[in-house]
Amino acid sequence: MAEPIHGARPIVVEEKAGKKAYCMCGHSGNLPYCDGSHSRQQTGVAPIVCEITEDKKVSICQCHRSGKLPFCDGTHKTL
Ligand code: FES
Repeated sequence: MAEPIHGARPIVVEEKAGKKAYCMCGHSGNLPYCDGSHSRQQTGVAPIVCEITEDKKVSICQCHRSGKLPFCDGTHKTL
């Protein structure tokens, strides 16, 4: 069983509208998106699936402590 990996900064992406699964375990080879590693490595963590309603820039939390997961709320600056 692998422990989740917590990054120091969000990943900013120009996102297209649609359903997304954002990695919350930190083990994905395709961050910030889930690639199934959370299951293969038995992290006990699941991705956050959400609908992006329009094309826009988003900041995806990598410290996994944001109050607005999967989006960054600046909490990483306080850790
Ligand atoms: S690979 Fe990290 S949550 Fe799925």
